[in-house]
Amino acid sequence: MRKVPIHFTRLPQFGYRILKWSFNYYIFRKTSPLICSIHVTDVCNLRCEMCGVWKKELKETLGFELYKKTILDLSKSCCYLSLCGGEPLVVKDIFERIKFAKKHIPLVRMVTNGYIVNEQMAIKLGESNINEISISLDGFQDIHDKFRGKEGSFDKAVSAIGFLKKYAPRTNLVVSSIIAPWNIKQLPLFIDFVESLNVQHNFQAIGSIFQKVENTAYSGTEFDEKDLTLLMNIIQSKKNIVNSKYYLSKIPEYFLKRNDFVSINEKRCLLPNYFIEIKPDKTLYICGIVFDTGKPFDLETGLSNILKSKEFKAEQKNLENCKMCEKAMYVCYLEPRVSFPFGKLIKYH
Ligand SMILES: C[S@@+](CC[C@H](N)C(=O)[O-])C[C@H]1O[C@@H](n2cnc3c(N)ncnc32)[C@H](O)[C@@H]1O
Ligand code: SF4
Ligand code: SF4
Repeated sequence: MRKVPIHFTRLPQFGYRILKWSFNYYIFRKTSPLICSIHVTDVCNLRCEMCGVWKKELKETLGFELYKKTILDLSKSCCYLSLCGGEPLVVKDIFERIKFAKKHIPLVRMVTNGYIVNEQMAIKLGESNINEISISLDGFQDIHDKFRGKEGSFDKAVSAIGFLKKYAPRTNLVVSSIIAPWNIKQLPLFIDFVESLNVQHNFQAIGSIFQKVENTAYSGTEFDEKDLTLLMNIIQSKKNIVNSKYYLSKIPEYFLKRNDFVSINEKRCLLPNYFIEIKPDKTLYICGIVFDTGKPFDLETGLSNILKSKEFKAEQKNLENCKMCEKAMYVCYLEPRVSFPFGKLIKYH
């Protein structure tokens, strides 16, 4: 049974914000961000083959004051905040940031490579009361260390899970694995290993979202249909998998046929109506998949002002007709897109 990573005292606030969004959207066609992803920093301690963030020349970190101001603005509607990067745990005031977000947003989660999570850090994360931590692990030591670009990164991530289980017992732990040509044959065994750690497991099909630099290793065509079918059958049989059935069912065709997901599922994309994404360089995008072609908004002008602006509404409208998901089946985007609003949550999980 899927564990909902939210404390029951925050459930009314969580439910209220979702109901308010639904009411405003269906009755008045007015929208506000329900889900926000903040990339706190570009800085990272690993050098992953499939990721372009560490290759950026100019690495920035979102200032704490602007972060706090943005969280306060978000607190009017947002029920789910995801902190990622770069590596969020290398940001020196990350615990204050988590605590601040926790005061204002009912469900706060973080994605980390787990490399620097030692005992003290696990204690602080436990004290922060963060709802969920997703630790990225893409396979056993040989594969993980090679493609994460650092020896010892597998051992560090596994020991991070051990420390967090001990010192952050109220935090929901999820292992997040990419599905890539180099780990697909190892994943069936690795899934059993993650199950034995007694944590949840989610998958993201490798895509171009974090590859905004040249010379990346992945071209996206090196999959064998048999491997994909076998993997999906195994994944679907496990109880600790958190992906929606819909997302999993689309992975083989995403890799093999490069189909257009939006037209399979719905006539227009609803994500622009409840999602925003903030980057370390103080830009705000409605959808992170369209970084290259989408309109950036300047966060320093204030989130509330951005949301009220004609330009923001025009970009929302524009993106409702977007079909770019065929090029990047990235879980943070696609999963919320199929999970909200409520009808879809019931239909696709
Ligand atoms: C960019 S990382 C940031 C957080 C942290 N540094 C980490 O690796 O967990 C967020 C997630 O994106 C995944 N990721 C990186 N490159 C990807 C790609 N090309 N396609 C799909 N997922 C990717 C990572 O494995 C990680 O789970
Ligand atoms: S995937 Fe995460 S750990 Fe790897 S380089 Fe990118 S930001 Fe760093
Ligand atoms: S990239 Fe996908 S989720 Fe983003 S606006 Fe386009 S269709 Fe929607």
